[in-house]
Amino acid sequence: MTHVNHPFLDGRPKRMLVGGQWVEALSGRTFNSVNPATGQVIAQLSEGGEQDVDRAVDAARAAFEGPWSRLKPFDRQALMLAIADTVERRFDELCLLETLDMGAPIARTQTYKRWIVQALRFYAGQAVALAGETPGNSAARDVFSYTLRGPIGVVGGIIPWNGPLISQLWSICPTLATGCTLVLKPAEDASLGVLRFAEIMQEAGLPDGVVNVVTGLGSVAGARLASHPGVDKIAFTGSTATGRKIIEMSAGNMKRVAVELGGKSPDIVFADADLEKAVPGAGMGCFNNTGQICYAGTRLLVQRRIADEFVERLAAFGRTLKVGNGLDPEVQLGPLVSSRQLNTVSSYFDLARAEGARVVSGGERLGGDLAQGYFVPPTVLSGMTNTMRVAREEIFGPVASVIPFDTEEDAIRLANDTQYGLGGAVWTRDVGAAHRVARAVRAGMVWVNCYGVTEPTVTSEGFRMSGYGAKGGRRHVEEYLYNKTVWMDLG
Ligand code: NAI
Ligand code: MG
Repeated sequence: MTHVNHPFLDGRPKRMLVGGQWVEALSGRTFNSVNPATGQVIAQLSEGGEQDVDRAVDAARAAFEGPWSRLKPFDRQALMLAIADTVERRFDELCLLETLDMGAPIARTQTYKRWIVQALRFYAGQAVALAGETPGNSAARDVFSYTLRGPIGVVGGIIPWNGPLISQLWSICPTLATGCTLVLKPAEDASLGVLRFAEIMQEAGLPDGVVNVVTGLGSVAGARLASHPGVDKIAFTGSTATGRKIIEMSAGNMKRVAVELGGKSPDIVFADADLEKAVPGAGMGCFNNTGQICYAGTRLLVQRRIADEFVERLAAFGRTLKVGNGLDPEVQLGPLVSSRQLNTVSSYFDLARAEGARVVSGGERLGGDLAQGYFVPPTVLSGMTNTMRVAREEIFGPVASVIPFDTEEDAIRLANDTQYGLGGAVWTRDVGAAHRVARAVRAGMVWVNCYGVTEPTVTSEGFRMSGYGAKGGRRHVEEYLYNKTVWMDLG
């Protein structure tokens, strides 16, 4: 194991948070946390098994039924605001950990500080704004009807590795706002930051058992959580294949499920677009976080008249991006998260060539100073059709498939010719075309002349095989509440 200068990486194996206690796996087993920029092991994580998940679910249930359930909305709000303040103070440390754990450039994560703290504060506001309704009725008897809303219970959060600092909040925030409790299972490749975040929440006053963190393998700890009869809801973000398994496993006790899955999002560039904006905008829409973003705009549908020019400019833009160890504040793209992800992305480089695509830039692993880590450059593919596997399957690497189109109708048809429906964008100066395309693209988020803007206050939700379940905004909070109707005879 390599020594890394971070207060959290002290060489001791990392424990899991169960019922407010930091515990080892019952089996005593551990697994490695690897820094993807160097390939070095930086920590040992506890390998939580089924019984560890059971203990965490029991702790979450006990907390749900304990004093936490009697806490007033303003007290939950105060807790969340205290967490927001503590996270704000400790942000640099969390940011550094995200870089060491999954490779994200430190400069990029810094720009999310505002977003992360505001998410906590927005949901803190929601805690005091929960309300039922008093709908009228025309019943034969004189009855009063009203609805009550309350926390649905124990939530299982299963999150991926591509941005745990943010993705953990999508289950932590609505859990705390509504008075639910949570068992969080971070990804094998990025658990360190989630463990440290839990410590920071404790420091801010998180009651025991309200949030529990079990590290371990998806196929063991994750699967137990998804099938556990004591869990009332699963909030999952990850691959479409695993999402389908989660839905199946959740059926035993009719859990509520939210699944945010993969994508192959179209990014449509019309010939009249401002290319000064569209090239870097669409470029970062695809290459950001080294392509490891669920809504990355990986299918660049470009009007034929400008397609050649666009390809050259996009490749040139990609070459300007600094790829390297995310600790360097000038680095814009870090490594892929793991050697496994490097193998996946490399196999798509081979497939692109085999399918007859032209590799305009990138297309192979970076060597030299970067040979120890899992680095690949921004990659631009042309000579593509939308039927090639490279254009249809989620790669989760910085790979842009440029596909030409002729008319607006063509663009919409190609955009929707996918099993997914997460994101999409359109670049044009024609306001009518922008609105028509935004309306026609079947995706949960569409950007016009920008890419990837999200806010915790704004709800988004995928279509089709990109999954379902709201994230952000009021509707997200609703999904953590039950609805009960009360009928009262007034006669
Ligand atoms: P994955 O979907 O298998 O992993 C995501 C989470 O699910 C992790 O915490 C993992 O431990 C857990 N998990 C895995 N198998 C499970 C099971 N049987 N039961 C319960 N939980 C389970 O994704 P993976 O294998 O890490 O990445 C593979 C591909 O998935 C990527 O190449 C990418 O295309 C896609 N992906 C999409 C993400 C998104 O945000 N839409 C995020 C991560 C990956
Ligand atoms: Mg790692």
